[in-house]
Amino acid sequence: MASSNVAEVIPVQVSRRTEPSLVVHREIIGTSPSICEVFSLIERVCDTDSTVLIQGESGTGKELIAQALHYSGDRAEKPFVPVNCGAIPAELLESELFGHEKGAFTHAIRTRIGRFELADGGTVFLDEIAEMSPVLQVKLLRVLQEKKFERVGGTRTISSDFRVIAATNQDLEEAVASGRFREDLYYRLTVIPIVSPPLRKRRGDIPLLFDTFFKRFCLAKKRDLRGITSEAMARLENYEWPGNVRELENMVERMVILTMGDEIGLEDLPQRIYGAEPRAETPAITAIPETGFCLSKVIAEYEKKLIIRALEQTGWVKNRAAKLIQVNRTTLLEKMKRHGVSKPA
Ligand SMILES: Nc1ncnc2c1ncn2[C@@H]1O[C@H](COP(=O)(O)OP(=O)(O)OP(=O)(O)O)[C@@H](O)[C@H]1O
Ligand SMILES: [Mg+2]
Repeated sequence: MASSNVAEVIPVQVSRRTEPSLVVHREIIGTSPSICEVFSLIERVCDTDSTVLIQGESGTGKELIAQALHYSGDRAEKPFVPVNCGAIPAELLESELFGHEKGAFTHAIRTRIGRFELADGGTVFLDEIAEMSPVLQVKLLRVLQEKKFERVGGTRTISSDFRVIAATNQDLEEAVASGRFREDLYYRLTVIPIVSPPLRKRRGDIPLLFDTFFKRFCLAKKRDLRGITSEAMARLENYEWPGNVRELENMVERMVILTMGDEIGLEDLPQRIYGAEPRAETPAITAIPETGFCLSKVIAEYEKKLIIRALEQTGWVKNRAAKLIQVNRTTLLEKMKRHGVSKPA
């Protein structure tokens, strides 16, 4: 271990979870308010047949949310049928969704059942919905309204009882405004909107996600590592994570394989994270009002916000929070008392 890397090793303990349903919803891990809001929405809508639109950046867990909705609800015993609208060429997507009759086109040598039919009683997950062609958008709208359709090249009307969950990492409202996505279909899809929050907006989940992936990969790769230094963890907590949870997961796998010592230290982090200085946040300076401005009050308010932020970021472990903002533990305790800050129940 490098001599600069003398910080305490944080024991990896997934067991710190207290209220399991708040921490893991199926495969989704997190305790931050924004992810708990997603858990609560899943619970409330999983048994309904309403269409759900999941929006969020790439790697934030949209597919996990879709699966949690299906497997927590009444339809769990029936098929969950994913369709990646972005990966299937437009001319094939129609027959993929609706199926086709034998002879419908040159290569249709036998009748094929489509995904909507396969999902009878279950759920169709339309991933990357923004990529769907305008022609197919019209057909999808009709199916959503009537739950009836014909196979390509067929005349018989087929009905299937499926629920639709759609997802996109694009701004669908913007796609509607620019004419790339039908407004009527957008409203039809967004009966229940769910936002999958980016990891940088729920930094408090980073240690827990790290712990989970770390344990998983240590087991899978047969590595006996102790954990991660608090300095290295602080860098992970400060990083922007443009690739979200997927980036974190892949990074932990790589570190578990490549780390030479018995714990992950600063020097084991990828350069983009190791090289990034911790963010030193300062508030934007705006014009000072003529009256009513009190410097000490503003500073006290800002100090309180930073203390709460540090505590949230470290799961309310005071030692770690104090280290993060470089004050003594006793100073932190004093400041918490002065500002009336305590761990939420
Ligand atoms: N909250 C979470 N808890 C545990 N694992 C997660 C979480 N969010 C995402 N993951 C993991 O991160 C990876 C990416 O998740 P997923 O495929 O669901 O993201 P996505 O939003 O659908 O991304 P994309 O837009 O690129 O398709 C998966 O391996 C998934 O298991
Ligand atoms: Mg996805």
